[in-house]
Amino acid sequence: MLFETVATGGCRSYLIGCEETCAAALIDPELSQVDRYAVLAARDGLRIKYLVDTHTHADHFSATQQLARQLNVPVVMHGSSPAPFVDLRLQSGELLVVGKLRIQAMHTPGHTRDSMCLTVEDRVFTGDTLLIGGTGRTDLPSGDAGALYESLFDGVLRLDPSTKVFPAHEYKGRAHTTIGQELAENPRLQKRDRGAFIEMMQNLNLTMPTHITEALRTNMTGGKTVAQMLAEAAAIVPFMSLAELKACIESGKCDFTVLDVRERDAFEEGHVQGARHLPRGQLELRVNQELTDPTRRILVYCEFGRVSTLATATLRQMGFRGAVALDGGMKAWREAGYTLVAGKEG
Ligand SMILES: [Fe+2]
Repeated sequence: MLFETVATGGCRSYLIGCEETCAAALIDPELSQVDRYAVLAARDGLRIKYLVDTHTHADHFSATQQLARQLNVPVVMHGSSPAPFVDLRLQSGELLVVGKLRIQAMHTPGHTRDSMCLTVEDRVFTGDTLLIGGTGRTDLPSGDAGALYESLFDGVLRLDPSTKVFPAHEYKGRAHTTIGQELAENPRLQKRDRGAFIEMMQNLNLTMPTHITEALRTNMTGGKTVAQMLAEAAAIVPFMSLAELKACIESGKCDFTVLDVRERDAFEEGHVQGARHLPRGQLELRVNQELTDPTRRILVYCEFGRVSTLATATLRQMGFRGAVALDGGMKAWREAGYTLVAGKEG
């Protein structure tokens, strides 16, 4: 078996491949690493056949959907996953055939209702059901401490004690552990009584993961993250530097329209000399009155450089092939000490 671990902060993804057939499965891929997985698979001579999420993640952005589009392979989750983009829904005990490898699903609800562990050869991928020296939390949507107790003590912990444990999170850099080691040393597993275990899990008082709303929204629905929206806009837009814009204005040879897409009060407080005002919210509806020459260069700016990127992408989609976004925004412009003009347009 060929085996690669990819760590993204505390998140772990695993690439497992069959040496004989070059078939591979990728477990719990993370959105910021999409290019890395493809490169790793290519380096190892593997072709990814399945993209598996052990559960609906609340703390990172799953890359399964994007990779499925790129690689044209199915997304695999447990049968109870709410995500509409899942192609293959496994029930407990079912196998994924990856060349000569057999990856077996074990439904382990508790951290989430759709959690599953995956066993293959000498190891188990435990998702957030069992962590090294810990367990997944049960206080997030669809979590259930009683279900986790059963999934652990009647499920994953009954695997052979020598089975290697590879969790979806590891914050201390340990590669793996074993079922036997966890049974002996994991502090969460020392409460063998169901009631005591549930009470312990319900009193952990953990802070909410960052980006939980966005992670659940995108992982459950297949929708896009804000970063994806911005990256897609930025990919079809050219940029102009602050210094270049300043030089153009100072030389008096500004042969393009400068468009401020912030709200009116921000514009009137201070804008770039000669700028026209067209708030982002009204862009599509007022563009025919305000921007009559589709061939003209239009430099778009906002406060931070993000809204202007989206607005420039919209303008280019509408046919304004000369639309350019400012690399940075008025915040950076002010901080650089560049000149602003207060007051209304005109
Ligand atoms: Fe999780």
